[in-house]
Amino acid sequence: MGNLYQKLLENGKSDFYPYHMPGHKRKPLTEVLKRVCDIDITEIDGFDNLHHAEGILAQLQKRAAKIYGSEECFYLVGGSTAGILSAIATVIKRGETFLIGRNCHKSVYHGAYLNGANTEYLFPESVKGVGIVGEVTAQQVQLALESNSRIKAVIIVSPTYEGVVSNVREIADIVHEYGIPLIVDEAHGAHFGFHEMWPHSACTQGADIVIQSLHKTLPSLTQTALLHVNGNLVDRSRLKRFLAIHQTSSPSYVFMAGIEESLDYMESVGKSRMDKFADLWWQMLKNLSACKVLMIYPKKMDGQDFGDAKETKEKRIKYDIGKLVISVENSNISGQKLYDILLNDYHLQMEMAGGSYVLAMFTLADEQDAYVRLTEALLEIDKKLRISVPAKAKSDVAPNREPLEKAMEFWMAWDMTTELVDVDDCDGRIAGDFINLYPPGVPVVVPGEILKEEILEIIKEYIRQGLPVHGVKCMEGKVWLEVIYGKQ
Ligand SMILES: Cc1ncc(COP(=O)(O)O)c(C=O)c1O
Repeated sequence: MGNLYQKLLENGKSDFYPYHMPGHKRKPLTEVLKRVCDIDITEIDGFDNLHHAEGILAQLQKRAAKIYGSEECFYLVGGSTAGILSAIATVIKRGETFLIGRNCHKSVYHGAYLNGANTEYLFPESVKGVGIVGEVTAQQVQLALESNSRIKAVIIVSPTYEGVVSNVREIADIVHEYGIPLIVDEAHGAHFGFHEMWPHSACTQGADIVIQSLHKTLPSLTQTALLHVNGNLVDRSRLKRFLAIHQTSSPSYVFMAGIEESLDYMESVGKSRMDKFADLWWQMLKNLSACKVLMIYPKKMDGQDFGDAKETKEKRIKYDIGKLVISVENSNISGQKLYDILLNDYHLQMEMAGGSYVLAMFTLADEQDAYVRLTEALLEIDKKLRISVPAKAKSDVAPNREPLEKAMEFWMAWDMTTELVDVDDCDGRIAGDFINLYPPGVPVVVPGEILKEEILEIIKEYIRQGLPVHGVKCMEGKVWLEVIYGKQ
């Protein structure tokens, strides 16, 4: 096993002169470069080549596979996005049908578009009263596969952005009965499998390809991620081809050494850090149970209180500990308002605001102070709020509620000429662009779908609440949507 980081440092200090990229020549000419200059190199002798790994990088990738319990692992330096695009191109050829969890990230849709895939969707239920999207069930997958024999591959996201985990084992078994591969976007679950209080990683639950962003939940640099492969349903040489297409031909050694170090960290102190993480988390949940108006999710799972689960350790928590969803469903404020109060009055930057909730994200890097500050702020805010149950539940505007009727495949629609039309005149028109809240980037509307009054009202409501809606234009005091040119 080579230690890439040490080797890079030694190379930086050596008298080997760099007649090669990068252009800084290991000279810290700017402030940022001062920190990374010594170890930022290109594929020079002794440092292997990510796209044809045979030396140190091959060893490191083997080690990452061993840690996560997969058969083979590939380092990603373009985030999970590069892995998702490559995985989709590997399993889906032009014109083939792809079954997608509708709550998947936009990179999944981009992958489907680039490959001209026809799409079918799995619509997970929303979690009642919270406004977040729930799990994809094995029954849904079974039903979808039974009703469309043309489906060639399936992708789901687990855990979701908000920490909801699907039963990957059951889903994989069903997908494999049809002889096709299951991809799991585990971008938010690179910390799974390191501690018994967290769910198993999809790597050990039968998924054929699993993609994880190390940068999201482990101490790793932005853009660092992993792609794991299992079984014989995935053509691995095709996968390598697409990784070479979707990843840069100049992969960053800073990133790759960062991946190595974050896995070193998890192997050495990860378990004890996650023990502490879980303890701080339970304590926070206990303290937050004093809230009278704000609702904390998830409080219970399968009728079992988180507190009980901690004591008995009978079964793994079905949700990702660390994703705190603070629901304002029964309060007199919106999710965006709570987000703004936490930011402006308490200097606490949340991960995102939805129509009916705010999401805070914790990792093993958070110390007690982080838990105490948020708890104190929420308890104080809660005291000032009133219970107010609006006629129309805030969580009713959750994305992916009802399947919209599809007028044409989205890869086709996204390439068509469009025009901007006032949202009030869009009923019956065909969407020409995605409309989503970003984050989390789950599409409310996909190009090619027919816009109907109900969905248009939801979009207007998002805008009224000041949520970050992508795919709409606000001009001249009106909201405009991109629709396919000319009335069909
Ligand atoms: C569910 C999910 N999948 C994939 C991605 C893409 O990950 P990355 O930013 O590592 O490319 C994201 C990014 O937020 C995500 O939320």
